[in-house]
Order: sequence, then C-alpha cells, then structure tokens
Amino acid sequence: MAKNKNNQAIWSSRIQNKGSALFQKIGSSINIDKRLYKEDIKSSIVHVEMLFKQKIISFKIKNKIIYGLQKIQREISKNKFEFNNKYEDIHMNIEKELFKIIGEEAGYIHTARSRNDQVITDFKIWIKSATNEINTNLDKVIKSTLKVAEKNIETIMPGFTHLKNAQPISLAHYFMAYIEMFNRDKRRFINNLKSLNENPLGVAALAGTSFNIDRNFTTKKLNFNSPTNNSVDTVSDRDFVLDFLYSVSVCSIHISRIAEELIIWNSDGFNLIQLSDKVVTGSSIMPQKKNPDILEYLRGKTGSMFGNLFAMLTILKGLPLSYFKDMQDDKEIVFKSHDTLINCLRIFDEILKNISPNKKKMYELADTGFTTATDFADYLVKNHSMSFRKAYQKTAELVNLAEKKKMKLRELKIEEIRKIIPKVTNDVLKVFDLKNSINSKKSYGGTSFENIKRMIMKYKKDK
Ligand code: ARG
Repeated sequence: MAKNKNNQAIWSSRIQNKGSALFQKIGSSINIDKRLYKEDIKSSIVHVEMLFKQKIISFKIKNKIIYGLQKIQREISKNKFEFNNKYEDIHMNIEKELFKIIGEEAGYIHTARSRNDQVITDFKIWIKSATNEINTNLDKVIKSTLKVAEKNIETIMPGFTHLKNAQPISLAHYFMAYIEMFNRDKRRFINNLKSLNENPLGVAALAGTSFNIDRNFTTKKLNFNSPTNNSVDTVSDRDFVLDFLYSVSVCSIHISRIAEELIIWNSDGFNLIQLSDKVVTGSSIMPQKKNPDILEYLRGKTGSMFGNLFAMLTILKGLPLSYFKDMQDDKEIVFKSHDTLINCLRIFDEILKNISPNKKKMYELADTGFTTATDFADYLVKNHSMSFRKAYQKTAELVNLAEKKKMKLRELKIEEIRKIIPKVTNDVLKVFDLKNSINSKKSYGGTSFENIKRMIMKYKKDK
C-alpha cells in the first residue's frame, strides 16, 4: 500500500516533485466543497458497510473506519477540523484525517471507488436535500401569497396587456396567478428527483470495478432508487446539475416578474401599492425618498442565476467523456444559485407581508381606459344577435364617442348609446360596472369573485 504520510499528497509516491504552489492554491476546491462533508461521510460509511458485507474488508477495519469517520464528522461540525488546501478537496481532506485518526487501515476506504463516483454521489444527495429546502421555502411563499389573495378578493385592479389597461380583474386573481407559477416551480424541482435518485456510487473512476460490490445495497442505504446503468456516463453526467440550475432560473424569473411589477405599481406614476418602512430604503441625498431596493435586488439577482446556468452549459459543451476537472466548478455554481434563490424566496416572503394595495387608486385606474368595452361587445352578441366582429365594431364606435366627449363609457347617456345601437335597453348600463364585469367572468379559471373563493379554498385544503 502507498505510504500516506500526512504531510504528503495521496499521489506523492507517483508524482515525486512538489507541484506548483500556485496551482495547488488555485486548483484546490476545499473552500467550496467542504459543504459536502456530511454527505461525503454518510456515503463513505455506507460504502465501507457494503465492502464488509461483500467480504472485501474485515469487520474490524470497517468498524475502525466508521469510528474515524464519525469522529471527523464531529470535528467538522464543531469547527475543530482544519481544512487543508494541500489536499485539494473534501474527499481527500477527510481521507487524510482518517489516516491521522486510525492509521494505515484508513487505506482500505478507497477500495472499489474513485473520487469521480464519490463526488457525484455526495453532490446528488446534497441537491436532493437542497430541492426539499427550496420547496419548503416555496410553500411558505405560496402560503403568504394566498393570505394576500384572501384579503383582496374584492380589490379591483386593471388587468394589463402591453401595460395598457385591459379589463378589470381582482387583485386576488392576479396574486393567485403567481401561486400557479410557484406550484409549477415546485413540480419542476420534484421532477428532477428522478435522475437525482439514480445512485452513482460504485462506478469507480469510469469503468466500474473488479471487486464484487453490491450497488443495490448502497442504493438502498443512501435512499436512491436504482444504481446508474453505465459507468462512463455516470462519471461524465452533469445533467442533474443543469436540471437544478434551470429550475432555479425559472423560479427566479417568476420572482423577478412580480418584483418588476411591484416596482412599477410602487412608482409615483402608478401609486397602486404601498411598501411598509420595513422593506424600503432611503436616499443619501434626497430626504423624501423611500425606494424599493429590495425588489430591485430580487429582479437583479435573476441575472446571476441565469449566468450560473449558462456557465454550466458552457463548461459541458463539447467536453469529451468521461471526467475532467472542468466539471469541478459545478459545486460552486450550484451552491451560489441555491443560496441566492433561498435568499430571494425569503425576501419575497417578507415583502408579501409588507405590501398594501391603494385600493382607491387601483379602482380608479381600472375605471380608466374603457376597460369594460369588451363587456359591452359581449352584451351585444348576447342580446342583439350580432356576431362578435360586428359587436366589436359597434363598441369601437362607442369608445370613440366617449373618448371624444372625454367621458367614461358608464357616463354616456342611454340616448347617446342608442345613436349607435338603436334598440339598446337601459339594462345595458350595468355592463359598464367594474364589479359586474369581474363577476361575469365565471368561466373556469376566470376572475369572478366566486371562482377565486373556490380556488383559495382548494389551495388551503391542499396545504
Ligand atoms: N473534487 C473533484 C471534483 O469535484 C473530485 C473528482 C476528482 N477526480 C479527479 N480525477 N481529479 O471534480
């Protein structure tokens, strides 16, 4: 067995000259991947249990190794472990320490495995729990969004297309649109679990191993569903990293869209919502300012999350099989995206608790820009046996008339309307009412108050 003196690299019996100090410093990833220590120790324990079960190592050695690994786990969690750049990454730092604690028998731990399968095993376990953590945070955001919706079923706002007033909708309906997005985000993360649940451990460097290992045993013990099928693919594959980064990116798009929307609504031009002092910042020169910096942070951070996805896509593009050090960057990228998204979700949850709509302003804006014109057209189709195109044309004439007279549709006299639609009866006036307009949208998924109440109930039950 190779000597493993603790001040030497594991490969020092082969590579005898001291490596470049600069490369050692730069090539080391320990400051990043030390975050995988729990996963690394867990998978190492299962690995040696398997080696013992398969009679590849003795009972005594297995126990000694497990004892050493558990000791290391305690040292690291109590911040008493000294990570060393010289040993490159978390796997070798732990192995080196194991030698220190239990001596030469530590050398058996790396039987029938390589860092190539070890690192993806750790990483997949980590991403699985990160996925859970993200979904727990998404659940919180969904719950807070639901609370805002519940309080605002009858808050009327203009629904926009092209940022121009389109049709009146309920503010609750608007917020619940985001619940749909966040639920899809959750589902996207959950869908990724299928690949994450394939166990890489045991494919060794790239070819598999001549030892009689039991990959089903490690699969079960590490809570995977099945072993991966091809050893070359396994050590080369980082699709699961891309899936994660893409899911983070889509979720961050959703956060940035609502952040942008709230920034617009909070602007003095729109003035549709108020942010409490908890979530605004001041200006260093303009004493009057209350700025929505936090929302801008959410919108801006999307950039780095996309950047991380693109970095990983680019690293993998054209990379031959199997393992290359290029891929070592995957951890830093994933950790950054994960941490940023968790921060964004927490911040967004806080924002949801600190916004209040200017209901009067919202109503006034919804009542501007002839937002019930479509309701009038629908009325004509239903009551004057017109085709929708004909009704559209008549309604456009009515809008032109109102615009010329600088009036709202509901301010027009019935006689004026009759100039365009001669036989129209008085009951037409109710179609211009914003609340009536909203409540007429009873089609499944539409904005009527009843629909929204039913949806809120459904989501509360799902929780
Ligand atoms: N820390 C390494 C990484 O994440 C582990 C794999 C090292 N394997 C190797 N052949 N250099 O990529």
